Amino acid sequence: MTVQEGSISVVGAGTMGNGIAHVFAQQGFTVNLIDVSQQQLDKAVNAISKNLDRQVTKGTITIDQKSMTLSNISTFSLLADGVKSSQLVIEAATENTDLKLSIFRQIDEAAPQNCILATNTSSISITKIASVTKRPGSVIGMHFMNPVPIMKLVEVINGFATNKEVTAEIVSLSRQLGKTPCVVNDYPGFIANRILMPMINEAIYSLYEGVAGVEEIDTIMKLGMAHPMGPLQLADFIGLDVCLSILNVLHEGFGNPKYAPCPLLINMVSAGKTGIKSGEGFYSYSGDTRELVVSKRFT
Ligand SMILES: NC(=O)c1ccc[n+]([C@@H]2O[C@H](COP(=O)([O-])OP(=O)(O)OC[C@H]3O[C@@H](n4cnc5c(N)ncnc54)[C@H](O)[C@@H]3O)[C@@H](O)[C@H]2O)c1
Repeated sequence: MTVQEGSISVVGAGTMGNGIAHVFAQQGFTVNLIDVSQQQLDKAVNAISKNLDRQVTKGTITIDQKSMTLSNISTFSLLADGVKSSQLVIEAATENTDLKLSIFRQIDEAAPQNCILATNTSSISITKIASVTKRPGSVIGMHFMNPVPIMKLVEVINGFATNKEVTAEIVSLSRQLGKTPCVVNDYPGFIANRILMPMINEAIYSLYEGVAGVEEIDTIMKLGMAHPMGPLQLADFIGLDVCLSILNVLHEGFGNPKYAPCPLLINMVSAGKTGIKSGEGFYSYSGDTRELVVSKRFT
């Protein structure tokens, strides 16, 4: 079983979906980009075009490569039309278990029998998603990082029933995209978020307990551990609501109190302070300046 060029579908045209479509199209695959919202599809194509412009300006691709990449992408608002002749579908829709189960039932009905079904979920069990299809051996996690065209990692997650040939195919495809795949097994948070989220939670606990301020915590992790951004800034970037929801998955999945989300994180999400997307988290994003400004609440 090989995924031939010209046979990729991406379900969900948000932040991740447009990045995934971009990297496949740039490698010569014809991509069917699918979303329930026409507005999101238009926005995605626009975002891909702007990101390609940036690559042209940097000299990493030519104008012709930009045109070729864009011409490889078609958009669909009906899922069945977009997946009916695909050999690989990558689902990157909103992180909601019921929604993803429903999407996988539909893809399973509409996609060809030999099609691999991958999900970009950050935290939902691959095994659970596979269980609603008639082909659990062909269901796998393909966890890209944000921003997709820039980040090198693909966390490849084997569900309980994933076939070895399917894993090998996804590993090989990830390399073809210029990415570095790492294969892991399906347990809560996989590896990336199982290690990242407790670190972010601990940073929030340190702030909550008054051990240090926002700038100190982030500066210590940047200068002391060579992290490109501190854990509190990263939490703002990911979205505090997303961090909370992944910590809840870890807490419930392992039943271990060490994963319990910090009460400050819960409070901030309840108050709508979810980070960059809301204009405020540990930092404030209301000004024009690109300089990081610690939120008034924490000064
Ligand atoms: N944003 C990140 O940093 C990041 C990183 C890694 C993984 N992920 C995962 O990627 C997935 C997508 O996240 P995102 O940040 O791109 O979300 P997003 O909110 O930007 O986009 C989700 C898209 O899914 C679409 N959608 C909803 N229901 C649909 C349906 N039934 N059919 C087709 N499309 C539908 C929405 O219209 C929207 O365009 C999630 O599973 C998330 O956990 C996100």
